[in-house]
Amino acid sequence: MKIDPWSSTTYQDYTRLRDEFGIEDFSEDLFKDLPKSHKLLRRGVIFGHRGFKQIHNAILNKKPWAILTGLMPSGKMHLGHKMVIDEVIYYQSLGADVNIAVADIEAFATRGYSLEETKDFALNEYIPNYIALGLKPKKCRIYFQSKQSDVKDMAYILGKKVNWSQMQATYGFNGQSNMAHVFSPLIQTGDILHVQLKKYGGNRPTLVPVGVDQDPHIRLSRDIAQAHRLYNVTVTKDNKIGVFVKVDDNISKLLDNAEKTLKKLKFNKLKRITDYKALYINDATKEDIPRIDESLAKTETSFGGYGFYAPSATFHRFMTGLTGEKMSSSKPESAIFLTDSPKDAAKKIMSSKTGGAATLEEQKKHGGKPDECVAYELFLYHLIDDDKELHEIYSSCKNGKQMCGQCKKYAAELIQKMLIDIKEKRKDAKNKIKSYLS
Ligand code: TRP
Ligand code: SF4
Repeated sequence: MKIDPWSSTTYQDYTRLRDEFGIEDFSEDLFKDLPKSHKLLRRGVIFGHRGFKQIHNAILNKKPWAILTGLMPSGKMHLGHKMVIDEVIYYQSLGADVNIAVADIEAFATRGYSLEETKDFALNEYIPNYIALGLKPKKCRIYFQSKQSDVKDMAYILGKKVNWSQMQATYGFNGQSNMAHVFSPLIQTGDILHVQLKKYGGNRPTLVPVGVDQDPHIRLSRDIAQAHRLYNVTVTKDNKIGVFVKVDDNISKLLDNAEKTLKKLKFNKLKRITDYKALYINDATKEDIPRIDESLAKTETSFGGYGFYAPSATFHRFMTGLTGEKMSSSKPESAIFLTDSPKDAAKKIMSSKTGGAATLEEQKKHGGKPDECVAYELFLYHLIDDDKELHEIYSSCKNGKQMCGQCKKYAAELIQKMLIDIKEKRKDAKNKIKSYLS
C-alpha cells in the first residue's frame, strides 16, 4: 500500500492506514487538557498524528509554536476544505502564529493550472472564505509559493539530503515523471521548514494539520529536518544516552558547545570521546532526549546549521461526499461548496445517501446506521457543536425513534444558516485580504 497525495482515493480503514504507516493514535491525553478542546479533536475526526506531544507541551507551557499549512488553489472550496481552516482558527486562538502557503507551484506542476488561474482561486475563493470563517490577521501570514524566494531556496538547498531512490520509493515517480512534479514535494518541505528560519520566528515546534493523503510529505519533511541537524541525540547500543556530531567540520567546537549546553541542563556525568564525535551523558535517561535535543537544536544556527525541530502533524479523515464517494470539487453533486446558494445546499442534503433502512417500518424496528450516514457526518464535522445534542441524534437514530426525512431536514436547515452567515461575512472579507498577505 502507498499513499499517493495526488490521487483521489478514499480510505476506508483509517486504523489500518495508521498502523501500516507508523502514524500515532491521536489519543485523549493529547487534547483533553487543551483549552476549549475542539470538536474535530474530541470526536475522532483527527485520528492520527506525528510528534503532536511537542505541540501539546508548547501549548501547556505557553511557549511559541507555529502552524503551517497549505491550500491547493484549484476549483471551489467545499466543506472538506473547511475542516483544515477550522483547525487552524482553533490553534490560532490558542496562540500559534499561522502561516498558510498558497500552493500555486504545486497546482501548476500537478494539476495543470497556470499561476494566474491559481491566484484567482486563492484571492477570490479561498482567502475570502478563510476570513469569513474567522481567521484573524494578527500573527497570520498567507503567501504564494511562487512569490516566496526563501521557500524556493529552502526547497533547493534541502534537496541536497534526499536522493532519487528515496523520492521514487516515497512517491512512485518514474522515468516519465516531469521534473516540476518531482520537485514539488521539496517545495512543500520548503513551506514546512522555512518558518523555522530566524526571519520567520526561528526554531520552534511547528504543527502541520492536513488530510492523511499528505503523510508522504510529512515523512519527507521530518526526515529532511533530521538530516540537516548537526547533532543526533540517541540511545546507544549499550543503552547509554549519547550526543553525536553528524558533520565533519568544527567537531571539537561542537563538542564543547554540547558540553556547555548539557551542563546548563544540569547534566554533569559527561564523557567525551572525540574519535567517535560523541559525548555520552551518564546521568540522562531516554525521557530526557527530547529536552536535550531541543536545547541543542537551538544552538545549531551559530555553527551554520538550521537546528530544525522535526515538524509535527495531525491527520484528519476525509469527508464522505453526499453521493457516498469522496467529497470532491470535480464532482459538484458530491460536495457542498461554501458559495453554494443555501437552497442548492439544502437540496443536495435532502437527496443525499443516509444510513437509513430500506423501509420506514424496518427503520422503526431496527434503527438507522449513523456511522454510515452522510447527514450524520455533517452534524459531526460541521453543524453541531454541542456534544450532548449530537449524542441524542446518534442514539435516537440507532433506536429507531428518528426518521431520515426529518433528520435531513434539520441538517438542511442548519447548513442554510451556516452558509447565509458565511456569505454575509464574506462581503467585506475581500477588503481585508491585504492585511493577511505577506
Ligand atoms: N499539498 C497540499 C494539498 O494538496 C497543499 C500544500 C502545499 C501544503 N504546501 C503545504 C499542505 C504545506 C501542508 C503544508 O492540499
Ligand atoms: Fe442518518 Fe438521521 Fe437517517 Fe440516522 S435518521 S440514518 S442520522 S439521516
